[in-house]
Amino acid sequence: MRFNRAVKLVALVAILSCMVTICLWSTCGTRPYSVGAEENQANFVLTEYHKRGTNSISSSDQGQAEPRRVEEYHQIDCNINSETTIKCRREGPEVYIPFSFIKKYFEVYGEVEETDEYERLEFHHSNSIVHPPRATYSPDSMFMAFDHYNVEGRDRVKCVTASEGVPITVQWSKDGYHYPIQVAQYGLSHHAKHIVSGDPDQLVLEDGEEDSLDGWVMPDKKSQVKITAGDKNHNRVMEFLTSDSLLTKGITIAADEKGYKTFLLDVRFVTNGSITVVLETGAGDIKIHYVFSSVDIYFDGKSNIYYGMGERRSEWIHLARDLKCDLLKGLLIKLKMETIKKSYGLNRVVEIRLHGHGWVDNLTMSQSVHMDQFYDAANWLVRHQDERGGWPIMVARHLVVGVMELPPGWYSAMGQGQAMSVLVRAYLHSKQDKYLQAAINALRLFEVDSSQGGVRARFLGKLDWYEEYPTTPSSFVLNGFIYSLLGLYDLKLTAKGEGQAQAERIYNSGMKSLKTIIGLYDSGAGTFYDLRHVTTTLEPNRARWDYHTTHINQLLQLMIIDDDEIFKTTCQRWLGYLKGKRSRHN
Ligand SMILES: *[C@@H]1O[C@H](CO)[C@@H](O)[C@H](O)[C@H]1NC(C)=O
Ligand SMILES: *[C@@H]1O[C@H](CO)[C@@H](O)[C@H](O)[C@H]1NC(C)=O
Repeated sequence: MRFNRAVKLVALVAILSCMVTICLWSTCGTRPYSVGAEENQANFVLTEYHKRGTNSISSSDQGQAEPRRVEEYHQIDCNINSETTIKCRREGPEVYIPFSFIKKYFEVYGEVEETDEYERLEFHHSNSIVHPPRATYSPDSMFMAFDHYNVEGRDRVKCVTASEGVPITVQWSKDGYHYPIQVAQYGLSHHAKHIVSGDPDQLVLEDGEEDSLDGWVMPDKKSQVKITAGDKNHNRVMEFLTSDSLLTKGITIAADEKGYKTFLLDVRFVTNGSITVVLETGAGDIKIHYVFSSVDIYFDGKSNIYYGMGERRSEWIHLARDLKCDLLKGLLIKLKMETIKKSYGLNRVVEIRLHGHGWVDNLTMSQSVHMDQFYDAANWLVRHQDERGGWPIMVARHLVVGVMELPPGWYSAMGQGQAMSVLVRAYLHSKQDKYLQAAINALRLFEVDSSQGGVRARFLGKLDWYEEYPTTPSSFVLNGFIYSLLGLYDLKLTAKGEGQAQAERIYNSGMKSLKTIIGLYDSGAGTFYDLRHVTTTLEPNRARWDYHTTHINQLLQLMIIDDDEIFKTTCQRWLGYLKGKRSRHN
C-alpha cells in the first residue's frame, strides 16, 4: 500500500541516474560504463526527443529565458519500441520515464524510503540477499548459512505435526504430505540455529526430582499427582490422574515465569488424555490441545487449536513445540494473515494443563528447542527410509506439463543428499550408528539411472548428474545437484570402509561434471535454473533472483571445500549480475 503511494509520488521525480544508465544499456549502450560516453549519448537521445516535439506544460517565458536552468517539467510522449506510447517528463536536457514503467520493463526493484521527512528512492537491480557461509566447513558444522532459513514459517507449510514433529507441506497437493527435502531442510536449519544461539536457557517445571508438587493445581477432589519411579531409565517421574475430558480444567501448572515460548516434555498415557497449553494473545486466551488423534491440525474458529499426536498412547512421547508457530499455523486454518498479525500477537504462555491418566517427565519451558527439532527431522528420515534407501515423494511433479513429469513415488537426489547432511550431523552429535547407516543406505539410488527409478542422469551420455527431478528427458536442475554433492561430501568425510569409498566415488564423479558444465548455466546476466533449453526445445528457464542467490550461496560453500579456480571466477561473475553487471558482448 505504502508502495503504491510511493510510486505515484515518484512518477514525476523519477530517477535520473538509474534511468539514463539503464536506457543506455538497453538501447544505445555499446561501450562499457564511462562518464564521458554516457553524457554524449544522453545528449544524443535527448535531441531525438526534441525533434518529436513536446507537449509543454511549463510557462514558456521561464524556459526561454534560462534554457540551461529550466526548473519546470513538461510532459512528452515516449514511444516504446515503436509499439506503445507512455507519458514522460522533460526537464531541460533531461527526460524522466516513470519508475513504474522502468520496474516492469527491466524487472528491477525500488521503493521510496522516508526517514525524518527525508525521502529517497532505494533502487535495486535484484531483490535477494547473499548469505555467505562461515569460513570453515566440516560435516558437523553449520550447513551453508541455513540459520537464515525459516522452513516452518513458509506459507506452503501447513504445520509441524505433533505426531512426528516435522513439517507437512501443501505445495503440490492440498491434502498435505511430508516432503523429504523440506523435512531435511527443517532439520538443517534448526541445527544451524542451535550453533548460532547455543544451548537455550530453560526453566524446568516438573521432572519428578523434587518432592514438592506445590506448583500443581487440581481441578477437583478426585484428581491427584504423585512422584513415582519411572519405568524408563529408572528416573523419577510424576504420575497424574484426572478426567480426560477437555470440558474439565485439567491439572494445571503456571508457565509464564520467564517468557519462554517453546516447551518440551516426555509423557506417557494410560487412558486417553491430552496436554493443553494456554496462551494469552491480543485477542484473548487461545488453548492449544495436543490430543490423540490422526488429524494433524484443527481450529474451532474461536479459541481452541488441536494438534494430533497420532495413536501412540501407552508409549513414551517426546514432544518439543514452538508455540508461536503452533499458534500461527492453527489460526491460519480459519483466519487471514492480516487479521492474525493485527490482533493475535502472542503475549505470553499462561499455563500448562494435563488431562487423563499418565506420567510426565522433563516438563520444561525453553528459549528454543532447536536440537529437538533437528532430531525430529533425523528420526523421521530414519523411520521413513524405504528398502531402496530412498525417501519416495508420494505426489506427482509436473516440472513441465506434458514434457517433464514424475508420477508419485519418485526420488530426488536433492532429498537424498540433504537427508545425508542431516543424518551425518545426527550421527556425529549422538554417535548412534542408525543415523550413519541410513545415510550410507541413501547412496544406492545415486548409482541407478533416472529411467530405472534412480536419480542419475548423464549429460551427453557421459557426465554423471544427480537429478533433483529425475525426469526423462533430463532437466539438470543446478541447485538440487549441488545440494546433493554437499550431502555426499559430508558422508565421504564421515563414513568408513565401503560406504566411504562409495560416497567418494559418487562425489568425485559429480564434481567433475559440475566443473565441466557449470558455464552452461551462465546467461551473461544471470543464471539458468536448469538445462531444459538444451534437452528439449523449450525456452530457457532463467533462475529468478532468489535461485540465482542460492547458486551463489552454494558456490561460496563449494569454494571452501574445493579451491578450484572455476568456482571463484564463476562466483565473482554471478555476484556481479546481482548489481546489474553483464558479461561483455562481441
Ligand atoms: C481422546 O480425546 C480427544 C480429545 O478430547 C478426542 O478427540 C478423542 O476422540 C479421544 N479418543 C478416544 C479414543 O476416546
Ligand atoms: C528426561 O530427560 C532425561 C535427560 O535428558 C532423560 O535421560 C530421561 O530419559 C527423560 N525422561 C523420559 C521419561 O524420557
